[in-house]
Amino acid sequence: MLSNSGLDHIWLPFTSWRDSIDYPPLVIRRAAGIHLYDQYDTSYIDATGSWWVSLFGHNHPHITSAVRQQLDRLEHVMMAGCIAEPTIRLSGLLSAMLPRKLDKLFFSDNGSTSVEVAMKIALQYHRQTGNDRRRQFIGLGGGYHGDTLGAMSVGSIPQYHALFHETFKQGFFTDPPSCYRCPCGKAPSDCAAQCMNSLETLCDAHGDEVAAVIFEPMVQGAVGMRIYPPVVLKRIFELCERHHILTIADEVAMGFGRTGTLFACNHAGVVPDIMCLAKGLTAGFLPLAITAVTATIFEAFKGDAHSGKTFEHGHTFTGNALACAAGCATLELMNEMNIPESLTLLSAQLTRHLQSFAGYDIVGDIRCLGTVGALELVADRKTKQRLDPQRRIPFLICRNALKRGVLLRPLGDVIYFMLPYITTPEQLDFIMSVTHEAFTETLDGIDSAA
Ligand SMILES: Cc1ncc(COP(=O)(O)O)c(C=O)c1O
Repeated sequence: MLSNSGLDHIWLPFTSWRDSIDYPPLVIRRAAGIHLYDQYDTSYIDATGSWWVSLFGHNHPHITSAVRQQLDRLEHVMMAGCIAEPTIRLSGLLSAMLPRKLDKLFFSDNGSTSVEVAMKIALQYHRQTGNDRRRQFIGLGGGYHGDTLGAMSVGSIPQYHALFHETFKQGFFTDPPSCYRCPCGKAPSDCAAQCMNSLETLCDAHGDEVAAVIFEPMVQGAVGMRIYPPVVLKRIFELCERHHILTIADEVAMGFGRTGTLFACNHAGVVPDIMCLAKGLTAGFLPLAITAVTATIFEAFKGDAHSGKTFEHGHTFTGNALACAAGCATLELMNEMNIPESLTLLSAQLTRHLQSFAGYDIVGDIRCLGTVGALELVADRKTKQRLDPQRRIPFLICRNALKRGVLLRPLGDVIYFMLPYITTPEQLDFIMSVTHEAFTETLDGIDSAA
């Protein structure tokens, strides 16, 4: 039996103090494939991909062995004057996957830092190319790019950002590309990216002050897995090109096959000036991030030690050898397992299963792209009225799923699935039958309490 006395000292992320007492976290001792095992050896299927990182489940032997072998050689060396071998190998593997135009890779440790790096590179690029006025950023309504100050300044989810936007500089924001509650009142069949008229207005008013537009391509994750059509992405690129504004595609959550294409930008056939990558890069084994930029951007940073053009940025664990070894093994698996092409069946099965939730009055919208699935719950389907937050219905559904061995986590009013690519049809059947039982138990409980 594990003593949990240290738990009292831990301040849990995204968790209220009351919940940390009433619903203490599962203490996970080991994992295999898509299963987690707690200290009592009770198993739970991780249907969230552990905050969306777990491409190949937990402890995949190929990645485990690569990290173990690396551990016997070199754990870490600073990336200044030295570079770890696996960092170079990873750069070669990733460059072969990325669009050719994205030629230079800057390493950091997590999604937020990859965004900070992207924003700083954009600002410095403009300064070094004689466009010093370009010091603003535009983000999309409903966007999320991490919890550091720069990343929050371009995020627009009130729950996470409002308090800090009052204090720190914030960017301009477009209308949210939210198809279920389209800000322009359009149905998906009429969509001509009218939500990005707001971007056009911002570009017309401030275009020559804007360094970059930053966006989550195709799926806005943290706001509730909102999926928008490729035409929106195309319009963002057209407007940015017209106004000479850089594009920053934040593929931290949706890169590496998650949406059914290698990178989410591929859905619209667009290549950004800057791309942020993290999460799936090591399939969840170790923290690592990369900001990829075009040769044109890098050109502006070429100079000697006295030129003032150097990008003066770095993190202690930049290019960490163990993380890069995990990254290499992850990309090898991506190639070996023919990701994303081989995900078509899993995606089709997920879509079918999600449709089976259409019969619940509480399910307002069903969304699926690649191996991302989401059910948005509402108080009233006709009016799309949001749930009463006091009743915590999505939270209760997840608690009831947990009792039955499936780990889910709500995002606001959304229940989502972020399936590891190794999920078998039988495992998916189980996840979905448990979710149905959790819906039924929760909704019956509410009816009988009413
Ligand atoms: C799109 C996107 N960008 C950035 C981040 C921040 O990543 P991290 O939590 O690794 O800092 C996240 C995290 O969920 C994300 O979804």
